[in-house]
Amino acid sequence: MITKRTRVVVLTGAGISAESGIRTFRGSDGLWENHRIEDVATPEGWRINPQLVWSFYQQRRKKLLHVEPNSGHLALVELERFLDSFLLVTQNVDNLHERAGSKNLIHMHGELEKLRCEECHAVEVMMEEKHLGEEILTCQQCGGRLRPHIVWFNEIPMQMQEIMEALTHCDLFIAIGTSGHVYPASGFLHKAQMHGAQTIVINLEPPENISFSDEFYQGKAGDVLPMLVRRWTQE
Ligand code: OAD
Repeated sequence: MITKRTRVVVLTGAGISAESGIRTFRGSDGLWENHRIEDVATPEGWRINPQLVWSFYQQRRKKLLHVEPNSGHLALVELERFLDSFLLVTQNVDNLHERAGSKNLIHMHGELEKLRCEECHAVEVMMEEKHLGEEILTCQQCGGRLRPHIVWFNEIPMQMQEIMEALTHCDLFIAIGTSGHVYPASGFLHKAQMHGAQTIVINLEPPENISFSDEFYQGKAGDVLPMLVRRWTQE
């Protein structure tokens, strides 16, 4: 079904990192359990209580120091190496795809490891030793306040034009570990299918947008992906 020339776009969500020990958003032990989304994931939340928001993301950053990529992340690296044209779009703000070895990667909801100046918009990469404290940091270039480089609700996801272009031209679109609740990512399946791509969904349970999938594999990404990638690359 797949050859080296098949143009593939993959979308991942929290489910692919679940087996590494990072909690999903909408599970029963969901990350938002102790916080209202408006308090920690909106521009208003940051304006009203920046210290709370800062601490929330610092906790998530510290968690990254204790987790490792799993077999799902690694299978996607193998798939990328096999193909001539491959784009991985992730909604996840963790760094597990790049640590596994993925190269052509878009973090559409931002990255935990980065901060952005509210004044000059410069982006800084955080360093473990000096950036994991509770004090909100300032920009090295202009002294402005740094905010998490995260796309909050009511903000526009990153690199949308590039993503839309890839969805329009791909032959195969695969959505993995995402509940299909959050727009615009939830619309990618339909968009790719409308433009003639084959669509595959891999998830623990049928997601909201399941009706736009041609094939659905129910199970853990860490089990299903290695099996599929082995089949595709060895056929
Ligand atoms: P969700 O928590 O909404 O959905 C995760 C999905 O992964 C669920 O459908 C689970 O059934 C599935 N799942 C769990 N473990 C799995 C596993 N081992 N293998 C395969 N599937 C598994 O997470 P997202 O869809 O990623 O946005 O959430 C989308 C966005 O909502 C996030 O990026 C975040 C949040 O608000 C922002 O922060 C802007």
